[in-house]
Amino acid sequence: VPWFTNEPPAALAALNEATGGELARARASGELTGKPYESLITPLTDRRWKAARVLIVGAGPREEYGTDLARRVATAGGAMARTRRVARLAFVLRAGQPDASGDVDVASFVQATAEGLTLGEFHGGSYKTADASLSAPPQLTIAVRDIEDGSPETTRRLESALARGRLLGECSNQARQLANEPGNTLTPRAFADRAAQIVADAGAGVEVLDEQQIADLGMGLLLGVARGSSEPPRLMVFRHQPHGVTTGPVLALVGKGVTFDSGGISIKPAENMDRMKDDMAGGAAVVAAMRAIATLNAPIRVIGVVPTTENMPGGRAVKPGDILRSAEGKTVEVMNTDAEGRLILGDALWYARKLGATHLVDVATLTGAITVALGKQISGLFGTPPWWVDQVRRVADRAGDRLWPMPLAADYFDQLKSEIADFTNTGGRPAGSITAALFLREFTGRLPWAHLDIAGTAWAEETKPYLSKGPSGVAVRTLAELPFTVESWK
Ligand code: BES
Ligand code: MN
Ligand code: ZN
Repeated sequence: VPWFTNEPPAALAALNEATGGELARARASGELTGKPYESLITPLTDRRWKAARVLIVGAGPREEYGTDLARRVATAGGAMARTRRVARLAFVLRAGQPDASGDVDVASFVQATAEGLTLGEFHGGSYKTADASLSAPPQLTIAVRDIEDGSPETTRRLESALARGRLLGECSNQARQLANEPGNTLTPRAFADRAAQIVADAGAGVEVLDEQQIADLGMGLLLGVARGSSEPPRLMVFRHQPHGVTTGPVLALVGKGVTFDSGGISIKPAENMDRMKDDMAGGAAVVAAMRAIATLNAPIRVIGVVPTTENMPGGRAVKPGDILRSAEGKTVEVMNTDAEGRLILGDALWYARKLGATHLVDVATLTGAITVALGKQISGLFGTPPWWVDQVRRVADRAGDRLWPMPLAADYFDQLKSEIADFTNTGGRPAGSITAALFLREFTGRLPWAHLDIAGTAWAEETKPYLSKGPSGVAVRTLAELPFTVESWK
């Protein structure tokens, strides 16, 4: 049960009574203030109640309780119940702040709560052989009786919001599972195999191009990055084609799929290099979003493109000063082999256009610089034109992915100047995330394009009540919801 700041126990009088007045006592002593994620667990001594115990989770001031906080409170509550080995959990939905129209949209609270509870089920210890610390996740119920009108139409709406939230939570967890896999189990080939299965099971089209097919397309940037590894690259292509839809927009989702980024010849320092197993989190987000999009049968055509490779310093690896030719024909002087994400995405963005994309979104753990700018909680949002970037931002706001618009300052492109080729792949330290985005823009054919730099947000460095340490599943829900907003695209 979420508990608002300064809530008088009278607001939940029956519950207080069932605890023998324990809630009133905890409130009076200051143990229960309603601060977000604060928790209190106490028995229900009144045997007429079905539940044996109640778990109170702080939910902050009621006027600030929107779907974002509701999602996080649900995650925190679900995770706490799980560590206490609860077998069945009923989450009492409490709607808070009204939306812009002045209504409290109960369905969106139901969806957010289902997402949050599902996110709380994620467990990253998949290779522990004897993990006694964790039981199976509790069986879940969301209780809405007090705040809905009970009409069949409302019930139908809430049930569909519940199913949608559950699916989006599961897809987010699936992306987290993939991002959590180490480089030795999730090679490019293994990533493509697993992704193909995940997306095909949902009924979408899947094609995986091998090294030869990638070479035939002339993708010198992707091949150039792959040269340093003994593992061959792959290019995954997913297609959602709603029945009978042959015109209108084609949304392309493009995700960086570097299964391990050692930096290549411009090798990274040893400290924290293990983290670079998650350099395919953008690709995993695209895979998981494609599953959701196909399952929910989005109304427009959507394609997913995920180039996947290792970035390794093998004897045939690309070297600083080498020149690569992209499938589009543009030449790149590789100044730093660690700026590999933009290279493989350059060819992938071109391919998305070749397949008929009209609108582009890419997601990538692209630059350490974005963490300097925005920290570990907010992803960088770049792109053009502004209405398309705003569209992505609005969707992300509702989906619970925090994004902040960054300037795509065209004059900074000078930092990528090359004496010998069209441009280089690095622009130096200043504005490192902006020059990376400007590099990508060269491959967008000036279509509406948004770029999410998730290098800071894809992996949580420490456990918070609402997000466990490890892969976050960032961007999955934003990508999945975007095609459903096509009505408001310009
Ligand atoms: N995968 C990294 C970016 C990254 C860094 C993600 C830290 C997560 C945490 C990317 O390929 C990279 O190495 N970028 C370089 C670019 C530079 C060489 C221009 C960077 O950010 O240092
Ligand atoms: Mn790199
Ligand atoms: Zn990388």
